[in-house]
Amino acid sequence: MTDRLLTGQMLEFEADPFAAGLGAVRHTRRGAVLLHDGRIAAVGDADMVRAAHPRVPVTDHGDHLILPGFVDAHAHYPQTAIIASWGKRLIDWLNSYTFPEEMRFDDPAYAADVAARYLDLLVANGTTTVSSYCTIHPESVDAFFGAAQSRGLRALAGKTCMDRDTAPKALRDTAQGAYDDSRALLERWHGVDRLSYVITPRFSPTSTAAQLDALGALWAEHPDCLMQTHLSEQVDEIAWMRGLYPGARDYLDTYEAHGLLGARGVYGHAIHLEPREVDRLAEVGAAVVHCPTSNSFIGSGLFDMGLRARLRVGLATDTGGGSSFSMLRTMAAAYEIGQLRGIALHPAELLWLATAGSARALHLDDTIGRIAVGMEADITVLDLASTPAIAQRAARANDIWEAVFPTIMMGDDRAIAQVYVAGTPVG
Ligand code: GUN
Ligand code: ZN
Repeated sequence: MTDRLLTGQMLEFEADPFAAGLGAVRHTRRGAVLLHDGRIAAVGDADMVRAAHPRVPVTDHGDHLILPGFVDAHAHYPQTAIIASWGKRLIDWLNSYTFPEEMRFDDPAYAADVAARYLDLLVANGTTTVSSYCTIHPESVDAFFGAAQSRGLRALAGKTCMDRDTAPKALRDTAQGAYDDSRALLERWHGVDRLSYVITPRFSPTSTAAQLDALGALWAEHPDCLMQTHLSEQVDEIAWMRGLYPGARDYLDTYEAHGLLGARGVYGHAIHLEPREVDRLAEVGAAVVHCPTSNSFIGSGLFDMGLRARLRVGLATDTGGGSSFSMLRTMAAAYEIGQLRGIALHPAELLWLATAGSARALHLDDTIGRIAVGMEADITVLDLASTPAIAQRAARANDIWEAVFPTIMMGDDRAIAQVYVAGTPVG
C-alpha cells in the first residue's frame, strides 16, 4: 500500500469534548497526516511531518478540513429505495413501506444492487463505517458484507430477526431458524477483513419470547459480538409492546429477561425511557443511538442528549426512517433537536458524536473515529465553502468552529472533498 501524506486544516480530539471541554480538541491550521499501511502513522504540524518524511508523496488539501470518516451507528441499508416515503408514523410506516420493500431481499441480485448503491451513497457522504440492519434473508447479509468487503470498508451488520405474527408471513423466520442463520452468518463474516457480525433482533414487538431467548443464547456464546435492536422509539410502539409482553416491567425488560441486555448492546432511538431503563443501561454500560432525522421524520420524539452523562451515545441516520444518508445533515438535525430541548450542542460535540462517539457506541473507539497515530486511516476531507451560501457565511468566521458550523448545518455531499478508506482515496 502506498504511503501518503495529507496536508490541510486538521482537528484532533484527544478526549470527549462533552466531558473534557474544548481544551481536548486541537485545531492545526496547516496540519499533516501520514498514511501508512492503512493506518495513521504520524500526525502534526505540516512542515514538521514533511521534514520527517521527505520522500512520501504529499496530497495537499489546502484549506479543507481533515477529519476522521463519519461513523453511522444505526441504519437499514435495505430501506435505501424507500427513503423519504410520505405520511406515516412508525407502525404504519413499517407496514406500508418498509416490510414490502424488505420482502424483495430474498433475491440476491436485488440485495447486491441495493447494497452497492447504498455503500456508494454512504462514502459519497463521507461515511466510512456503518452498523446496518439487513433483512430476515441471509442473502441480504451476504450482499451487504460482500459489497463492504470489496470496498475495503469497516462495516457491521446482521440478519434482522422476526418470528412473531405481528410481522408479515413472508418476513418471518422462527426462533430456531433465526439462531441457526445468525450463527452461520456470524461464523462466515465476523472478524473477516474489516467486518463484524451484529446479532440483530429487529425489536421485541416482532419477536416471540422464544426468539429473544434464542438470540440471547447466541450472544452468550459469542460475547465479543455486538447486539443491536430498537428501544422505546415511539409512544404507540411502547403501548403495543406492553400488550405483547404483559409481564414486562418496561420495554428494556423485554430484552433483559431474554439475555439481550449487556455492555455490547446498542439500542436505537431510546427516546421515551423510564428511569429504571436508564439506570439499567448505565449499570451494564450499554449504548444508545440518537437518530435525529428519523425521530423528526417519523414523528417519534426528542432524544435527551443529557443521557450522554451516563451512557455511551452514538449518532445515526437510521435510513430509510431517517431522511438523509448524510451525517452532516444528521448533525444538523441533532443540533435542532438539542435546541428544542434547551441544549445547544457545540460543533465540536456534534463532530465528536459523528466520529469518535459513534465509534465508542460500537466499541470501535480504539480503531476508528479519530485522527491519531495507530488508528485506521479512514478519513473524510471537508470543503468548508462547498456552496455559495456556506462560503459567504464561512468567510465571516473568526475561528474553526464558526468556519465548520455552516457546513454542519447546510452541508451535504458537495462538502465531501475526498474520502480515504484504509489509506486509499475513493472516488
Ligand atoms: N423499529 C423497528 N424496525 C424499525 C425500522 O426499520 N426503522 C425504525 N425507525 N424503527 C424501527
Ligand atoms: Zn432502525
